[in-house]
Amino acid sequence: MRRLLPLLVGVLCAFGSAARAQAPTGGAGENVVQRGEYLARAADCAACHTPPNGQEFTGGYKFSLPFGTIYGPNITPDKATGIGDYTDDEFVAALQRGVGRGGKHLYPAMPYTNYTLMSREDVLAIKAYLFSLKPVHAESPPNALSFPYNQRWAMVFWNLLNNPDRRFQPDTSKSAAWNRGAYLAEALGHCQACHTPRNFMYGLDEGRAYGGAVVQDWLAYNITSDRDSGVGAWSDDDLAAYLSTGHATHHGSAAGPMAEAVDHSLRYLTQPDIRALVTYLRDVKPVHDEIPAAKPVQADALGARIFREACVSCHALDGSGRQTPYAALQGAHSARDPNGTNLLQILLRGGNIATGGPTAFMPAFGGEYTSEELAAVANWTIGHFGQRGGEVTRKSVEGVRPGGPGSAAQPTPGG
Ligand code: HEC
Ligand code: HEC
Ligand code: HEC
Repeated sequence: MRRLLPLLVGVLCAFGSAARAQAPTGGAGENVVQRGEYLARAADCAACHTPPNGQEFTGGYKFSLPFGTIYGPNITPDKATGIGDYTDDEFVAALQRGVGRGGKHLYPAMPYTNYTLMSREDVLAIKAYLFSLKPVHAESPPNALSFPYNQRWAMVFWNLLNNPDRRFQPDTSKSAAWNRGAYLAEALGHCQACHTPRNFMYGLDEGRAYGGAVVQDWLAYNITSDRDSGVGAWSDDDLAAYLSTGHATHHGSAAGPMAEAVDHSLRYLTQPDIRALVTYLRDVKPVHDEIPAAKPVQADALGARIFREACVSCHALDGSGRQTPYAALQGAHSARDPNGTNLLQILLRGGNIATGGPTAFMPAFGGEYTSEELAAVANWTIGHFGQRGGEVTRKSVEGVRPGGPGSAAQPTPGG
C-alpha cells in the first residue's frame, strides 16, 4: 500500500473553515514577482517540475508508480507545452482545487491538498513569478497509467473526502511566529506529505500528524514534539540548522528526499521563517512510538573491515566526519534505527546534498558489495554509532536494492 502513497497525496486539514488568508512574506518594497519566487521556493514547485539535471520548471520529472508512470509537466509560460494559456482563475483552481485547465482533474502527486490553504494573493504571486520566466518549449512524455488509475474523473470523489478546499485560517490564540510557521509547514512546505502516515483511503492519519511515515523506501522520521520518538529533545538552534543547512551537529545530515527538500526549498527561507517553522514544530502534538528493547551489539569482523576499507576516509572511525561536517555520523538518526531503513538507502543510492556550498558527496555502494556485505557494514555502523544491535539482513538489503523486487523505482522528489 505504501507504494501508492506518492501518487495519492492528501491532507485533511486541521484548520477551521474558510476565512481571511494569512498575510504572506511581507517585506516592504518587494515586488510581486520576487514574492512569488520566494513562495515558489517555499512550496518547492521545482522539485517535481524539473527534469533530472535539467532546466527548472520545464517538466519531465518522472514518478514511477506500480500502476504506471506520470510526469510533472512543464510549468514555464510556453503556450504550446507549458502553462502560458492559464488565466488567473485557472491557475488558482489548479493549486487550490486540483483542477487544471479545461477541467482536467489533477492527480494528488501534485500537492494541491496543501496548496489549497494558500491565499489567492500568494497563488497569483507564484503565477506572476512563473510568467516572468522565459517560456521553454518542452513536451513531457505522456502519462502512462493503467485502468482504473487513468480515470481522472475518479479524483472528484477522492477530492470530496481529501481536499478541504479552504484557505489557511490563523489561530489567534497563538503567536504570529506560530501562525507563520503553520502556514509554511501546512500550506507551502507540505511536510506532512512525507512525515504523516496515511489511512486506508490514502488520506492523512490526522491522529498521527508528523508521526513519521515511509516514502519510497525512506523513513521520514517522527518530527513531533515527543522527546524520545520525535525531535522534542533537539534544541531550537539544532532544528533551525538542520532545516536551513541540512545538517545539525550531533543529529547527522539530511539525505534522500529530505536533502532534496533542503536543497530546492528550505535553504532559501529567511531565518525568521526557519525560526517560525521551528516554533510550529515545537507545538505539534507529541506522537510516542514504543521503541523495542535494543538487541546486544554483535562483534562483526566483516562489517568492521568494510567500514575501514570503504567508509572511514570520509566518516572517520569516531564518526566525526572527515570529508565534511555533513559526513558526521555521531547522533545521526539513520545510525540508530536497528532496521537500517535510511542507512540502506544511502548505501545503495549514495548521497549528494548540495547545501549551496561544495556538495557533500557519498558514492553508492550497491554495485561494489554483495547484499551480505552491505548488511554486515550496516549492522556494524548501527552497533558502533547507534549502540544497539542492528537487525539488517541480506534479505532486507535485497528488498530495497534499486530494481530489486520491493524497491521504489526512484526516490521521491522534495515534495
Ligand atoms: C510533489 C510533486 C509536485 C510539487 C511539489 C508541485 N507539483 Fe505541480 N504537478 C505535479 C504533477 C505530478 C502534476 C501533473 C498531475 C496530473 O497529470 O494529473 C502537476 C501539475 C501541475 C499543474 C497543471 C499543469 C497542466 O499541465 O495543466 C500546475 C499549473 C502545477 N502543477 C503547478 C505547480 C506549482 C505552481 C507548484 C508549486 C507551488 C507545484 N506545481 C508543485 C507535481 C508537483
Ligand atoms: C519529500 C519528503 C519530505 C518532505 C516534503 C519533508 N521531509 Fe523531512 N524528512 C524526510 C525524510 C525521508 C527524512 C529522513 C532523512 C534522512 O534519513 O537523512 C526527513 C528528516 C527530517 C528531520 C530530521 C529528523 C531526525 O530525527 O533526524 C526533520 C527535523 C524534518 N525532516 C523536518 C521537515 C520539515 C519541517 C518539513 C517541511 C518544511 C519536511 N521535513 C519536509 C522527508 C521529507
Ligand atoms: C566520499 C565520502 C564518503 C564515503 C566513502 C562514505 N560516505 Fe557515508 N556519507 C558521506 C556524506 C557526505 C554523507 C551525507 C550525505 C547527505 O546528507 O546527503 C554521508 C552519509 C552517510 C550516512 C547517513 C548519515 C546521516 O546523517 O543520516 C550513513 C549512515 C553513511 N554515510 C554510512 C556510510 C558507510 C557505511 C560507508 C561505507 C560503506 C560510507 N558512508 C561511505 C560521505 C561518504
